[in-house]
Order: sequence, then structure tokens, then C-alpha cells
Amino acid sequence: MALRVLRTVAELHAWRASQGRVGLVPTMGALHDGHRSLVARAVGEQETALVSIFVNPAQFGPGEDHAAYPRNLTEDLRRLADTGVAAVFAPSASEIYPPGDATTTDPGPLAARLEGALRPGHFRGVATVVLKLVTLATPDVAYFGQKDFQQLRVIQDVRRRLGLRTRIVGCATVREADGLALSSRNAYLTPSERGRAVSLSAGLFLAQEAWLNGMREPSHLRALVEGSAKDAGPLDYVSVADPLTLDELDHPAECAVILLAARVGRARLIDNVLLGMKVAELG
Ligand code: PAJ
Repeated sequence: MALRVLRTVAELHAWRASQGRVGLVPTMGALHDGHRSLVARAVGEQETALVSIFVNPAQFGPGEDHAAYPRNLTEDLRRLADTGVAAVFAPSASEIYPPGDATTTDPGPLAARLEGALRPGHFRGVATVVLKLVTLATPDVAYFGQKDFQQLRVIQDVRRRLGLRTRIVGCATVREADGLALSSRNAYLTPSERGRAVSLSAGLFLAQEAWLNGMREPSHLRALVEGSAKDAGPLDYVSVADPLTLDELDHPAECAVILLAARVGRARLIDNVLLGMKVAELG
């Protein structure tokens, strides 16, 4: 079946009316194999898979890369052609934010730290667009990557607080052969920056190995990651946190997430590892 491209809310509603169980994969385009792994889950687990492609202005702050963010719908559609996706929702900004609409969604307490502290308004923008997309498409399940761990937890918390019927499923991070997490923003890296960027995942893997060998001391785990990751570029944070609350851990715990953000050239990259639990256990 040919891939349907839906440009308006009216087209989406008309299409949705004839579908059964729908799996939604929200994206901002510039699709890579990380996105495609979410798509494969949706195709494999639901009757119909829908991908949204929308570079959401509300989640970019002043001076961030909204204008520069890679946009190429033709190429994205080509990358989806062999995946089994039934439809792509690629709306204009005015379809998602009708003139006069000032509705926003409270991203809640999980949005306070880390990315939320460094990118004021970011998670309000994410929560708002995801709630809009879920309201418009009424998917049974929406798939999100562990790569953006805080985003995943914020959205799961929005779902819990608002009592949404749509299930929010987290999917493991897809990486390059050397460990670098796939990201649309990797396209900003020069070859030498790309070489250095591997120190980010390498640091996380060092801590993961230490954890598997019984190390639970948060300060030690943090230091292991920092020691490697700083070679990639200036670090915004390395945080050893509780995976449910995202509170910083100051004592050994049964599970943890180590999150980092670094500036590598003009790219700002984030990554994480989950220790002592699997992303599928979060909901
Ligand atoms: P975007 O960065 O395009 O990512 C879309 C989805 O792909 C997110 O759930 C993200 O976590 C996932 N993803 C990205 N890189 C991945 C990787 N290497 N492995 C597995 N999954 C990966 O995240 C957004 O868009 C936006 O904030 C959005 C949720 C669409 C709201 O605008």
C-alpha cells in the first residue's frame, strides 16, 4: 500500500476514522535508524503505524537551532517507504497551533532539572505538541526513544496526570558501531568533532561496566563518565539520577540513570544509560 501523506487535521481525522489500532511515532523529521527502530516497533505491534513529522517551534528557545534544524520531507518519505508505515502526518505550524490558540500543557515536576533547567520552556513545548498529536491522532500506543530519557519520562508523567488512554512505550537507543547515539544533530559535527563525540557514549559504557561489577556509588559513577565525556567537549551536566523521579542520587540505589549533555562544536548532544532496569519497565 502506498504511503499516505496527511497535511491537515481534517485529512488526519478522515484517515483515522477507517483505522483500527494505531501506533504513533512522533518525530521532527531528519529520520535516521533510531527513528526507524521506533517505526519498526509500531509496525510490528499495531494494526497501523502513523509517523508525524513536525519541527515544533514551541520546543526551541531563542538562539537554538530551530531555523537550522534539517528539514527534507522528500528524503524522509523515501526513508519510510520500505518500513510498512501506512501514513505520515506532516502538518504546517498553523494546523497544530491555530491562530489565537495559546493552550499549553504543564510538563510537570520531571521537567525541572537537567534539560528543563538549561532549556527553559523546552518541555512545555514538547508536552504541548505531544498532547496535541495524541489528541488529534488518538493512537492506542505512542513510541518514544530512551535516547531522550527525560522527554520520555515527562511524557509518561503527563499521560499519568491527565489520564490519557494512549500508552507511552519507551524504546532502546540505537547507536553507531562505535557507540555514538544516533541523532539528527550529529549532522552538525565536523569529522574531527565526530571523532571526539564517541567519548560521550564511551564514558557511559565505562560506568555501565562498573555498575555490572557491583559499583553503586553515584559520585564514583559520575566521575567515571565525566573523565571520558569531557574529551568530547564542554559538559553541561553529568547526572546520576533516580529513573522515576530524575532526582540526583546521593546514595547507592538499586537502579539509576546516568544522563549527560555536552557541546561538541555547534552540536549539543545528549545521551544516557539506564542501570538496573530496562526502559520497557517504565510506563
Ligand atoms: P526527534 O528528535 O525527531 O525524535 C523522535 C523520536 O525518536 C523521539 O522519541 C526520540 O527519543 C527518538 N530517537 C531519537 N534518536 C534515537 C535513537 N538514537 N535511538 C532510538 N530512538 C531515538 O524527540 C523529538 O523529535 C521531539 O521532541 C518530539 C517528541 C517529536 C516532539 O516534538
